[in-house]
Amino acid sequence: MAGSKSAFRQIVSVVIFITAFQATSARVNSDCPTAFWNFGDSLTDTGSVINTFPVCPQCDPERSPYGDSFFGRPAKRFSNGRLVPDFFALAFQRPLLQPYLQPAAFDYRFGTNFASGGTTASNDSSTNPFFLAFQISQFARLKRTVDLEKSQVLMCAQVRHFLPSDDSFSKGLYTFEIGGNDIINALLIRNLTAAQIITQVIPEAMTNIAKGIQTLYNNGARQFLFFNLPNAGCSTILVTFLGSILPTDALGCVTAVNLLDQAYNAALNATIASARTQYPRAIFTIFNYYAANEEILLNPTKYGFNPTLTKTACCGAPGVGTLNYNPLVTCGNPGATKCSNPEEYVNWDGVHFTEAFYRVISKFALNGQFTDTGLNYTAMCNLNFNLFGPQVTFNSVYGNTCKVTFT
Ligand SMILES: *[C@@H]1O[C@H](CO)[C@@H](O)[C@H](O)[C@H]1NC(C)=O
Ligand SMILES: *[C@@H]1O[C@H](CO)[C@@H](O)[C@H](O)[C@H]1NC(C)=O
Ligand SMILES: *[C@@H]1O[C@H](CO)[C@@H](O)[C@H](O)[C@H]1NC(C)=O
Ligand SMILES: *[C@@H]1O[C@H](CO)[C@@H](O)[C@H](O)[C@H]1NC(C)=O
Repeated sequence: MAGSKSAFRQIVSVVIFITAFQATSARVNSDCPTAFWNFGDSLTDTGSVINTFPVCPQCDPERSPYGDSFFGRPAKRFSNGRLVPDFFALAFQRPLLQPYLQPAAFDYRFGTNFASGGTTASNDSSTNPFFLAFQISQFARLKRTVDLEKSQVLMCAQVRHFLPSDDSFSKGLYTFEIGGNDIINALLIRNLTAAQIITQVIPEAMTNIAKGIQTLYNNGARQFLFFNLPNAGCSTILVTFLGSILPTDALGCVTAVNLLDQAYNAALNATIASARTQYPRAIFTIFNYYAANEEILLNPTKYGFNPTLTKTACCGAPGVGTLNYNPLVTCGNPGATKCSNPEEYVNWDGVHFTEAFYRVISKFALNGQFTDTGLNYTAMCNLNFNLFGPQVTFNSVYGNTCKVTFT
């Protein structure tokens, strides 16, 4: 009785939902995403860079205390715990999004993650050759291979089970989080000027994003979510090294770097505006990471952060500047220590954000806050954030599933 009552309620609410949705937004694909395809850098890398370059100087995330929160051990992620794609998976009650390159295991049922630490949107291989154009090619190859494999009558059921379902390409959400390294590499490694970044690097990044959209669209993609650049001028590493030699703004952030991030974000707005004209049947949303990051820095207490520690690295060592970032003793190495309450920190290791920060960002993005379409996945897909809390552990959510492939 109780069962049929709740089934009835479910049907009623689905009908109400569909009616309401169609009434308000005819152009939007009314189906919730059934899969996630992510392109990006270390902010969303769930294992690729470490799986690809098993011996690398950037492999601190293989060492404790990376992954301490939620996972309880290093999880090939550049944070103390979950990243935005992890929170998305929890909100949609899916397995965590697996990295595309995953030794000895694959699971493409709900999409996959091409993001790789150090990559760029322009064709810049100075920190990682798996830049955006490369990640898009990986996607196209995966799609071709899956189509081919599915046409094989004699394919093992065990293998077929882990391939993307038929509609995961057409009903997937394609997320992009890339571009921060274009600017950082240009400034710190390639020694380019701000003018060169604006006239060469950013346009090349935009060309690749436009081409990427075209390739994905031609392969069935219809729903896109772009994360623009957060204000890297406020990051621990840049404030430590540039904050005393370059002008800073009211928040204590390096103005010149933030202006370049804004230039990138303005170009992204234009690129997406033209994609909207070119592909009227697709939906494109930009999440304004920059504005969201600024909001957190302006009102840290509102989101649970310690207002005196918004630029201090939780994990690191003293010796240079005042923000607990020392490039010779980075998090994960002997001499570096972890703060006692990572929940109060925005910055994890001097370069990357904490799980607490990503939790707030994920809620904003799913709720349609700081987005230019207002598309509210929480309402549209009836999501909840019950598994977002700091007390929730990997084992409590996924401990009984057979595939535990994050390390
Ligand atoms: C960086 O570029 C400037 C010119 O923009 C040049 O004066 C300087 O020598 C270059 N530095 C290095 C380390 O190449
Ligand atoms: C970047 O490289 C890809 C091939 O890897 C190429 O198709 C693309 O045109 C290049 N982008 C630019 C802006 O040169
Ligand atoms: C991009 O567009 C959004 C709204 O459409 C706007 O709020 C934001 O300021 C723009 N960003 C830049 C850097 O111009
Ligand atoms: C999005 O929807 C959720 C659930 O209905 C609601 O709680 C939230 O306030 C909405 N967000 C915005 C920005 O309206």
